[in-house]
Amino acid sequence: MEKILVLDFGGQYNQLIARRVREHHVYAEIRSYNRIAPDEIKDEGYKGIIFTGGPNSVFDPASPHYDPLVLDLGIPILGICYGDQLMAFMAGGKVSSAESASEYGKTVLTVLEHTLFDGVPKESICWMSHTDHVSEVPSGFGTIAVTSHCPCAAMGDDKRKLYGVQFHPEVTHTEYGKRIIGNFLFSVCGCRGDWKMEDYADRMIARYREQLSGKTVLLALSGGVDSAVAGLLLHRAIGQNLVCVFVDHGLLRKGEGDYVEQTFRKKLGVNMIRVNAGERFLRKLAGVTDPEGKRRIIGEEFIRVFEEEAGRIGHVYTLAQGTIYPDVIESGSGNSAVIKSHHNVGGLPDVVSFEAIVEPLRDLFKDEVRHMGMSLGLPEELVWRQPFPGPGLAVRVIGEVTEEKLSILREADAVFSEEVTAGTRTGYRPDQYFAVLTDTRSVGVKGDARTYGYTVALRAVSTDDFMTAEWTRLSFDILEKAGSRITNEVSGVSRVVYDITSKPPGTVEWE
Ligand code: XMP
Repeated sequence: MEKILVLDFGGQYNQLIARRVREHHVYAEIRSYNRIAPDEIKDEGYKGIIFTGGPNSVFDPASPHYDPLVLDLGIPILGICYGDQLMAFMAGGKVSSAESASEYGKTVLTVLEHTLFDGVPKESICWMSHTDHVSEVPSGFGTIAVTSHCPCAAMGDDKRKLYGVQFHPEVTHTEYGKRIIGNFLFSVCGCRGDWKMEDYADRMIARYREQLSGKTVLLALSGGVDSAVAGLLLHRAIGQNLVCVFVDHGLLRKGEGDYVEQTFRKKLGVNMIRVNAGERFLRKLAGVTDPEGKRRIIGEEFIRVFEEEAGRIGHVYTLAQGTIYPDVIESGSGNSAVIKSHHNVGGLPDVVSFEAIVEPLRDLFKDEVRHMGMSLGLPEELVWRQPFPGPGLAVRVIGEVTEEKLSILREADAVFSEEVTAGTRTGYRPDQYFAVLTDTRSVGVKGDARTYGYTVALRAVSTDDFMTAEWTRLSFDILEKAGSRITNEVSGVSRVVYDITSKPPGTVEWE
């Protein structure tokens, strides 16, 4: 199988580089520069290497350096940002550091005619983020692109097939970045582009079958796509030795617990334990109104239940988690303020001790996880499920959570969901839509009698990444049907409102 090595020098976009390569149907593997030597690179038979960016300066003796032998392996290399400077440094060129030459953000790139820039106009926008730059190209190299600040925005040695770009082709702000990476893969490295997600899944299955042979592996199944895909992949690898624990905390949407059980146990044959812990969670939540308090209690109780199940099974050596790459960055970034604690990010291992943790989806982005789910035969409706918060309906019932409020919310939410699904069958469907039970009651009239019921808020958002979101302009027809059905069919509700707040300043969930 043809594959590309992404040699990691500590840059922030390394996974993105690998993803861009995979988007061209070429498999990419990320290895840290200090974990692989040039002779191993040779033995692995990589078709090409990409040196990633990095936060350092090549002048810093502590910065990552690499054995210059790599340049003479006969394998094409593309260096990006720090990787470009490092290549110049290793090959005997000159790298300079000057604040005056630093560039951040969108910059006009001017390219010469070159294979790497096939299909790229003479001038286009690229994304820069650097202070150091290549000021003299090494012997055998020529400059193939410039910007107004950067005398060498790209360099190349066609004989040895070594290339460096100061800008970041992997980020979407670089207009022709995808094209440039494609040119490197196909025209320079001679890749065919016949890699498929199925192959990746097969490799992972084979790997885990060997690595986990004879072990019992425990996975907390939430019903969301990430843990579902991780579960199915491991199920294919180790069969009944994977034990999925599905903690039904009683805060799920209408019919959800049964759906998850049906799908995994009956349809997919996964070894699954369902723990019905609804009452236990409600007892803990009694009288609690603070949103973060609710989250904390649910997170802690979840761990207790999970621990008890692990104890019952005994001999559990390994914990599996459905962590995906964006979770890894979010939980690693440590310097942004906590807006809401997402209890299922970062997960259990601090509290529950296991000998090992496996995270099969750690390198994948959400859409790649869905893609893998499809290739493993996960039902389509599960693959395309909208996200659902770990603390469930507890953060959609404003104020204290009670069984009565939960059951009103479940019904209202089911009606709204039906109407959105029906009304968007052929058109755009929002990325997330749900009902919230506010703690405001209002007066209504039914028949000739006065009612005094809850106000349900409907929320629908459109977003790419859930970091920002716009409220969805749902048709009046959908809103009308949902509003009228909820007030008629769900007892205890006297009013329905639609939330027109985007994020920011609002968040997607109300709590
Ligand atoms: P917010 O409300 O933070 O939501 O704008 C962004 C996305 O995250 C989901 N969300 C959560 N997911 N545990 C989760 O697993 C949580 O505590 C949690 N809070 C919000 C939310 O549904 C939306 O998709």
